[in-house]
Amino acid sequence: MIEIKKLTKQADNKLILRGVDLSIKKGETVAILGPNGAGKSTLLKVLATLIKPTSGVIKINGMDLKKNHIEIKKIMGYLPHSSLLYDHYTPLENLIFFGNIYGVKNVEQRAIALVKEVGLSFFLNEPVKNFSRGMIQRIAIARAIVHEPEILLLDEPHTGLDQGAIVILNNVILSMKAKGTTTLMVTHDFKQAAEICDRIIIVKNGKIVDDFRIENHNLGFVSEKYEQLVEGVS
Ligand SMILES: Nc1ncnc2c1ncn2[C@@H]1O[C@H](COP(=O)(O)OP(=O)(O)OP(=O)(O)O)[C@@H](O)[C@H]1O
Ligand SMILES: [Mg+2]
Repeated sequence: MIEIKKLTKQADNKLILRGVDLSIKKGETVAILGPNGAGKSTLLKVLATLIKPTSGVIKINGMDLKKNHIEIKKIMGYLPHSSLLYDHYTPLENLIFFGNIYGVKNVEQRAIALVKEVGLSFFLNEPVKNFSRGMIQRIAIARAIVHEPEILLLDEPHTGLDQGAIVILNNVILSMKAKGTTTLMVTHDFKQAAEICDRIIIVKNGKIVDDFRIENHNLGFVSEKYEQLVEGVS
């Protein structure tokens, strides 16, 4: 599904990604953990075709990311740190707008259903500019999945969400997984990573330093591994 070989990314003479090799299967839910500045968001941006790699090869469904980026964009859903929403548009208008870009059928119906799914039906026709951070994040999540992407790239998706919204988001990810969606989620929230992911990748100084599977939502195991590798505790 996703094959990354010898990926590097340099910016301003700084090597941000220093040779990333990664293979992800369809339907996997992968958490990317690592300290601030490790290169996690940069990795996601390269996959989302927002920035170009300096060297290396990335294949998605057998397609080369460089050559087929238009095709690949259609099957990706990307939730960055910023919401990408239009402030003066309502949730309904935003979702219809983005849905139309992807050619979503029955887009208004889909938009209404998504706003309901993220628990904001009451605010369907209120401009997003009046929303709180958590409300914006809920709509941003809906935007990222409006076209039912095969690959979901989430950059710290739980940030700013209340407990109810965390449950909603986790259910969204798990129900998409059940339909075969592959998810890559950058997070500092080990609890959520253990809750919904079946594989953990740890990035440090632009490299993958660990890659392991987790079972039974074993949060202790994740924290232990992270401490050993990132904080140097043995
Ligand atoms: N366009 C750029 N030009 C120069 N340096 C950059 C650029 N983008 C990112 N960097 C640097 O690359 C490093 C990795 O950034 P990145 O945003 O990928 O980190 P991160 O792992 O997502 O961190 P955080 O946990 O804080 O979000 C940082 O040192 C950052 O300053
Ligand atoms: Mg980041």
